[in-house]
Amino acid sequence: MNWIKIVSIDKLSKEDFISKVNVSGKKICLVRTEGNLFAVQNSCPHAGAQLSNGWCSKGKIVCPYHRQEFDLQTGRGAEGQRNYVDTYPLDMRKDGLYIGIKKPWWKFWQ
Ligand code: FES
Repeated sequence: MNWIKIVSIDKLSKEDFISKVNVSGKKICLVRTEGNLFAVQNSCPHAGAQLSNGWCSKGKIVCPYHRQEFDLQTGRGAEGQRNYVDTYPLDMRKDGLYIGIKKPWWKFWQ
């Protein structure tokens, strides 16, 4: 797992927000809702809309296109959707917020 700093402490909003960040070539949707931070893939698995343009409701992110919902903690789609989004671990450190990105399997020996 690679831990990558995505925002410094002084630039991290204490208010709820949804934003898009680019990390190691991945587009990530970073969310603060009800005091908790989450990171999920930004591309909706239904038809590719940007989840960072959506909104949060009861611990889920809602896609702005067709309103499919994904649990921010587990990534699971709502009942009946049969899909999910990737989730990423976050770690608040003294100097900022870090995200954990797994190394691709072909880079384990490098
Ligand atoms: S593109 Fe997200 S619900 Fe359809």
